[in-house]
Amino acid sequence: MVSESFSGASPRRFLITGGAGFIGSNFTHHWCQNYPGDRIVVLDALTYAGNPQNLADLKTRENFHFVKGNICDRALVDELLKTEKIDTIIHFAAESHVDRSILAPDAFIQTNLVGTFTLLEAFRRHFPRIANNSPLFLHVSTDEVYGSLNPEDPPFTETTPYAPNSPYSASKAGSDHLARSYFHTYKIPTIITNCSNNYGAYHFPEKLIPLMCINILLGKPLPVYGDGQNVRDWLYVLDHCRALETVIQRGKPGEMYNIGGNNEVKNIDLVQMLCGIMDELAPDLPVRPSQQLITFVKDRPGHDRRYAIDATKIKTELGWTPAVTIEAGLRKTVQWYLNNRHWWQPLLSEEYQNYYQQLYGNLDK
Ligand code: NAD
Ligand code: TYD
Repeated sequence: MVSESFSGASPRRFLITGGAGFIGSNFTHHWCQNYPGDRIVVLDALTYAGNPQNLADLKTRENFHFVKGNICDRALVDELLKTEKIDTIIHFAAESHVDRSILAPDAFIQTNLVGTFTLLEAFRRHFPRIANNSPLFLHVSTDEVYGSLNPEDPPFTETTPYAPNSPYSASKAGSDHLARSYFHTYKIPTIITNCSNNYGAYHFPEKLIPLMCINILLGKPLPVYGDGQNVRDWLYVLDHCRALETVIQRGKPGEMYNIGGNNEVKNIDLVQMLCGIMDELAPDLPVRPSQQLITFVKDRPGHDRRYAIDATKIKTELGWTPAVTIEAGLRKTVQWYLNNRHWWQPLLSEEYQNYYQQLYGNLDK
């Protein structure tokens, strides 16, 4: 069913940063499908993680406009906010991969901290010009800002103290604090969402789930860090998109909302599940059963042991709950990587191979 713009009379005018990435492109599709009357402007620098193919089918839509550009470019952001009469920023753009933040943190500081600051400052200056709708700056963040849990600890809530352990999570924590400060100091309506690990379509090959899917299809080793007992709380990306929709509709400015799937799984168990689904769904695997490919490798430095989200607040105050079980979501995801070889194969570029070699060395030996 296609909904009216929820706010009533006038359509919303969105600036979606990072809309050519994994979650941003899923969200952009979700919004265009459900609110076709709203204006969507995507601003994305098309780094290695941004892919214009992710939005290719939206190009011809009247209400959609893609701009290749950097969120650190203040003049460009000012111009877009003004000419497009933006009332809502959904801020996804980030350097998002922990392993890359360990190898080369510079870009994380630039995009995640300076970029978020640039957007907030531009929105603050633009704010008095917004006449229609209730303005919103939605800052999309991660549960990794809370640090690492022990097995016996309760899941993260919105009052868990920040304790980031990687350059990635530290840069996201800093950007969260900036978004919070703009509400308290300048009364700019910011909301922060802290979400657990996402998975689904359009996920860049470097992350655990797509990496395992692709390596199984190629018959390559499946690198599991350390003892494989680290726990992540997995959420299907479209459940995350619905959660963000709920926050845009009913969230309270100045608040934080944790978003999670209530799906805590050990890495080794997740990889085994993926192997099982692949063995079942993929007709011509080079190595079968694919579990034989599992290879324990040196642990990630500072590897957080466990993440788990308590999503009670968004459930009770805003009425969101996840709908897709981990079993169903993983099957959909595996099927997507099977059907979309043409999407992921070009991403295994020379730059990617160099990164892979730097991170894992030669696992095939
Ligand atoms: P992604 O790496 O797939 O996409 C990031 C996008 O941002 C890319 O399209 C990239 O080109 C763009 N980008 C990077 N630097 C830019 C810049 N300086 N200017 C403009 N565009 C730039 O990331 P993702 O997994 O889709 O994550 C999106 C957001 O959600 C991030 O803020 C991330 O911290 C957060 N998040 C991710 C997860 C997850 O599991 N992936 C979980 C919780 C929160
Ligand atoms: P990742 O997808 O990188 O997400 P994050 O580090 O943000 O949680 O990794 C998910 C988990 O999988 C994490 O505990 C690290 C682990 N992992 C591996 O064991 N091997 C790998 O090759 C990768 C990329 C991740």
